[in-house]
Amino acid sequence: MNALYKLKNINLNYLLNGNNIKILKNINFEIKKNERVAIIGESGSGKTSLLMLMSGLETPTNGSIIFDKEDLSKINEKRRTEIRKKKIGLIFQQFFLIPNYTALENVMFPMQINKINNEKEKAISILEDFGLVNRKNNLPSELSGGEQQRVAIARAISFDPEIVLADEPTGNLDSKNTELVSNLLLEYSRKKKICLILVTHNMNLARKCDRIMKLMDGQIKL
Ligand SMILES: Nc1ncnc2c1ncn2[C@@H]1O[C@H](COP(=O)(O)OP(=O)(O)O)[C@@H](O)[C@H]1O
Ligand SMILES: [Mg+2]
Repeated sequence: MNALYKLKNINLNYLLNGNNIKILKNINFEIKKNERVAIIGESGSGKTSLLMLMSGLETPTNGSIIFDKEDLSKINEKRRTEIRKKKIGLIFQQFFLIPNYTALENVMFPMQINKINNEKEKAISILEDFGLVNRKNNLPSELSGGEQQRVAIARAISFDPEIVLADEPTGNLDSKNTELVSNLLLEYSRKKKICLILVTHNMNLARKCDRIMKLMDGQIKL
């Protein structure tokens, strides 16, 4: 089985004012290599929490998250950070670009920390693919929301990660930019054979993925 992720019996609880709140309940699923999976579900159903676990930014209360043969719930913080840096691209609703870096510098950044050669040429080439090469020397504050998110996608995908985790990447965009940005993300992940987990409220977008998983009240409903 060429699974990239195996989540087994995952539970995530938070202690809030002495109460144990169950955020994720007995989650089990696998993600194959080069698969695009949409995660849908109402606000508060646990989608962001699930991505936090899959990125190793959070650890589960119990259960295991095997990613590329390593259990993210068993290894230390340092190793989790290393794995994230090398193998996981993250995209958020709020873009989170580095404000004092140009578009080009933002895209080059993960390639630089991963010591990838010819990072400038590669960044320019992806900015070209994303229709942004004429904006390469602009700061994020000089770009529109759609342009900022295209830069964020270029940054998340430029270093050839194993997977891109995108948390409502079009949540702050108008319908025209939603279409543009999501098509770029899906096409690029197909072209480069990079796995994609896409959290979205947009059913048109979810249907363009290979598979849809629904979260309801912290549980997967198939
Ligand atoms: N750090 C936290 N402490 C306590 N509760 C949290 C924390 N983070 C999220 N929650 C709760 O977990 C539930 C799921 O949240 P979240 O994963 O953000 O859902 P979604 O992304 O689907 O909207 C919500 O009820 C939220 O209030
Ligand atoms: Mg969320």
